[in-house]
Amino acid sequence: MYSNKVIDHFENPRNVGTIDHPDGIGKQGNPVCGDVMEIAIKVNDNIIEEGKFRTFGCCAAIATSSMVTEMVKGKTLDEAEQISKQAVADALDGLPPAKMHC
Ligand code: FES
Repeated sequence: MYSNKVIDHFENPRNVGTIDHPDGIGKQGNPVCGDVMEIAIKVNDNIIEEGKFRTFGCCAAIATSSMVTEMVKGKTLDEAEQISKQAVADALDGLPPAKMHC
């Protein structure tokens, strides 16, 4: 069901935690499943230097949080905004259709 990459990011999530004095923070909850995700970023000169997350959720929610915090590193804010959920899923070698919302 899950790719090896999803399982790896679920079992060894990258960038878990919080950032002191973050430059941006986003929280999103899914009222259907009850999962909650918080992502913080540190930005310097319009470049995202660091992303950290705390996710209370399913395997896919944790894996996507981990992957997206890796993907945004070194990107400008505009570039990071262009990252689609499909791009995150592709970077994880795919997600089951029922887990794309995660
Ligand atoms: Fe709710 Fe995955 S985020 S089931």
